[in-house]
Amino acid sequence: MIKPHGGRLINRIVTGSEKKQLEERAHSMPRLVLNQRELCDLEMIATGAMSPLEGFMSREDYLSVLDLKRLAKGLPWTIPITLAVKSGAGEEYKEGSPVALYDDESHFLGVLHLEEKYKVDKEKEAEKVLLTADHSHPGVAYLKSIGDIYLGGKISLINRLQHKKFNDFRLDPIETRVLFKTKGWELVAAFQTRNPIHRAHEYLQKCALEIVDAILIHPLMGETKKDDIPAEVRMKCYQVLLENYYPSTRVVLSVFPAAMRYAGPREAIWHAIVRKNYGCTHFIVGRDHAGVGSFYGPYDAHYIFREFDPYELGVTPLFFDHAFYCKKCGSMGSIKTCPHDSQFHIVFSGTKVREMLKEGKLPPPQFTRPEVAQILMQSMCRKPEKDR
Ligand code: ADX
Repeated sequence: MIKPHGGRLINRIVTGSEKKQLEERAHSMPRLVLNQRELCDLEMIATGAMSPLEGFMSREDYLSVLDLKRLAKGLPWTIPITLAVKSGAGEEYKEGSPVALYDDESHFLGVLHLEEKYKVDKEKEAEKVLLTADHSHPGVAYLKSIGDIYLGGKISLINRLQHKKFNDFRLDPIETRVLFKTKGWELVAAFQTRNPIHRAHEYLQKCALEIVDAILIHPLMGETKKDDIPAEVRMKCYQVLLENYYPSTRVVLSVFPAAMRYAGPREAIWHAIVRKNYGCTHFIVGRDHAGVGSFYGPYDAHYIFREFDPYELGVTPLFFDHAFYCKKCGSMGSIKTCPHDSQFHIVFSGTKVREMLKEGKLPPPQFTRPEVAQILMQSMCRKPEKDR
């Protein structure tokens, strides 16, 4: 079984007497309510998905990630994992004193063992991580919305987040690892997505399935931008697709509980490392992975892998060019496999698909499986909850 990043799967979920003690002490600790992204990060740190991180980043790790794409000790890591408070509002949080962490419904979740409180330059962070400070980038807008004092330190998770959805599809890294081992799968490729699976995604996954033992379809279900397709709709699409078109003995569908950063190339490295923690040996990186608008070049998320020694990443990227259906080939392909002119290629943008669905037109089966198209159409026609 592939080793976790840094060699050891972190577990920051406390139980027994330690849990009891922290629960009792929490009443006297200052409180901090986490936002949606921070909640996702807390859960992922605690379960080892973010191994070797044991908490929110210290200044040294944070700056090293920004400047060198590595943790302070040198291990590759490309996305800052941080906990922010607003200047002035953070007076009650003292270095060396624990902080009680809550969600926005007043559920007590855990404790931050606050080691360091530091001021950051959010514009620098945006430029380094997202490669832009343009406010139309959702990651920049997020940074603008949070404070510029970061709290670093290990965490202890005391109560697991109470997820309302998809609980049958939630597997922690230790659980996917046990599953892969039980099934006897040595090579497992992970597929990241924040969209319904269309034919190009399916093509990438099935090409991968030809060379590995199994695939983990790992849709990101943490916070995404408002105009991305809602998680419930996506989940229905994944299920119907798996039922009809995938070999059930070689595919696992499980929720990836992370928040989307839209950091393109840096996020691709991070997505790959985190999937290694789930026990995956391979990671699919296609066109404009984790991109948004035209902020990144279509293959920047491939090129960034050249900056790291394959051994230090451990997980093997499977790169794919832009995939499409070619009418002349009568099959899916890419410019690597199809010799025909682009006039024969069926390519749709997300915007185009949305427009078609709004007009009541189903996208063609060469782009989306009919069962998926039907679900998307129904979701477009359904009135919002409050209107019903
Ligand atoms: S992402 O933000 O999660 O990367 P998306 O769900 O669209 O977005 O993509 C999932 C994966 O499929 C990514 O690796 C992406 O690069 C890849 N991908 C999406 N569409 C295509 C395509 N037409 N050709 C090749 N790769 C693609």
